[in-house]
Amino acid sequence: MLELKGVAVDHGKLRALWDINLEVRQGEKVALLGANGAGKSTTIGAIAGIYPLAEGSIVYEGRALANADPARVVQQGIAAVPEGRRLFANMSVQENLTMGAYSPHLRAGVDAGLEKVFSLFPILREKRRQNAGELSGGQQQQVAIARGLMAQPRLLLLDEPFIGVAPKVIDEILHALRRIVEEGVTVLMVEQNVHRALNFADRAYVIENGRTVLEGTRDSLLGNPAFADKFLGLE
Ligand SMILES: Nc1ncnc2c1ncn2[C@@H]1O[C@H](COP(=O)(O)OP(=O)(O)O)[C@@H](O)[C@H]1O
Ligand SMILES: [Mg+2]
Repeated sequence: MLELKGVAVDHGKLRALWDINLEVRQGEKVALLGANGAGKSTTIGAIAGIYPLAEGSIVYEGRALANADPARVVQQGIAAVPEGRRLFANMSVQENLTMGAYSPHLRAGVDAGLEKVFSLFPILREKRRQNAGELSGGQQQQVAIARGLMAQPRLLLLDEPFIGVAPKVIDEILHALRRIVEEGVTVLMVEQNVHRALNFADRAYVIENGRTVLEGTRDSLLGNPAFADKFLGLE
């Protein structure tokens, strides 16, 4: 479904990604792991069309993905839920959600989209008239994910969705994500917590200094000494 080959990205004069190679198949849940500053968010941003590629290619559903054109990437069927949520704090929950369906081809489906995300995250129906800034961290994260889903993506990108979210709400969000995947959406998620990432995902990639260095299923990674060295002693 999605394939990155030899992707390099610069932030100004600094090269953040050197050589990212990864593949996400239709229907999969894939995690991106790596230390702070490794390049996980930049990888998500490159896919989402926020950062231009300095080298390499991104192919999505058999076609080159729009380079550095976020609106076009959304139209191609990919929604990104950014690190830190980036909600409009002084707008209502419902207004934030509606912003996720800003593309002309989505506007007709706003009501159906709202029903859909309210059924996934019932608390958002109750809070829909409240300002997003008044919600708890976990509720705000649900708004951010729901806003991404309002774009009716076939591929959902999530960047560290559980920061500042209470454990009970993390479980609720994971449950909702599994439902979304059952309904045909593919998920690529950045997650710092190795065990949570591997319990959720079918496969994971490890990014180190802007390069994908390891890939595998939960069992193959947990049984790989190179992986254990990097992560399992550190928790
Ligand atoms: N907007 C930016 N401008 C300049 N440097 C950046 C920017 N975003 C990230 N970086 C740098 O790029 C590298 C990768 O960052 P990032 O992709 O955010 O890593 P991660 O998400 O894995 O923590 C880091 O060295 C970081 O300091
Ligand atoms: Mg990051």
